[in-house]
Amino acid sequence: MLALVPTPDRSTADAERTRDYYDRLGRLEEDRLVQDVAGRVSFEVHRRLLAEHVRAGDRVLEIGAGPGRFTAELARLGARVVVTDLSPVQLDLNRENLTGTADEGNVERRELLDVCDLSRYDDYEFDVVVAYGGPLSYAFEAEESAVRGLLRVTRSGGRVLASVMSMLGTWRHAPAGVTALAEALGEDVNDRVLATGDLRHVGGEHQCRMFRAHEVVDLVERAGGHVLATSASNWASLADPDVLGRVEADPDRWARFLDHEVQACREPGALDGGTHVLVAAEPRP
Ligand SMILES: C[S@@+](CC[C@H](N)C(=O)[O-])C[C@H]1O[C@@H](n2cnc3c(N)ncnc32)[C@H](O)[C@@H]1O
Repeated sequence: MLALVPTPDRSTADAERTRDYYDRLGRLEEDRLVQDVAGRVSFEVHRRLLAEHVRAGDRVLEIGAGPGRFTAELARLGARVVVTDLSPVQLDLNRENLTGTADEGNVERRELLDVCDLSRYDDYEFDVVVAYGGPLSYAFEAEESAVRGLLRVTRSGGRVLASVMSMLGTWRHAPAGVTALAEALGEDVNDRVLATGDLRHVGGEHQCRMFRAHEVVDLVERAGGHVLATSASNWASLADPDVLGRVEADPDRWARFLDHEVQACREPGALDGGTHVLVAAEPRP
């Protein structure tokens, strides 16, 4: 069992709650990127950022790897991957899902890891560090030191690729939920969540921090990174699954749609429109 060390700012209780949430979620996390069209688009947007920045032979630290959809993609790009997660259940699922596939040969090892404590790794040890699907959304007050850690273990000229939950995109995507929250807990709580993105104001079993795109850029720059690219995870793919289902059924139309969608997601006006905000950065010399 990973010893959850309290950081100066983030409590052990926050880390334990997140770990227990993903332990309980178990296999349900596996479906997030395949079960609906928005998830499949989100997968493709994340996959393309990997394909742009990861080279065959790269040594990659994957943080919050979960059940392994991106572990498999990293393997297919020819990377050697150190697979890590806070949740022992998710780490076991990752092992189960890859065992017996060719991708498993690219996994160097698996270990429990909190994104807030990378002290076991050397400076510049990895070519690329990947933290997709929100590990940094669970770092709370320790998020800046966590990003410093990601940049520290990345070689000069290497890449940090991360995505966090989007505050404005979540609101856009789920206005009914936001309104219900305000009705149940009061407008003051809703004001605090919208201002800070911090779901600890709500309580409940899933507590994370959602970000505005400019906050992600500020965070990376403050921590000593240089932002190379930003993207939303969805632009035209959250609202109308039936219409998109027709497009997805035709491989040529779907390929064209994905090209348009990936480009749109990188427009400044789209960055806050998806469920996640993605960033590619390099350590500043
Ligand atoms: C939404 S899942 C994303 C899984 C995978 N990266 C993906 O994008 O499909 C978030 C993962 O981050 C892990 N996680 C949450 N907090 C973390 C932390 N503080 N350190 C490391 N991993 C964490 C969870 O256990 C979970 O497996």
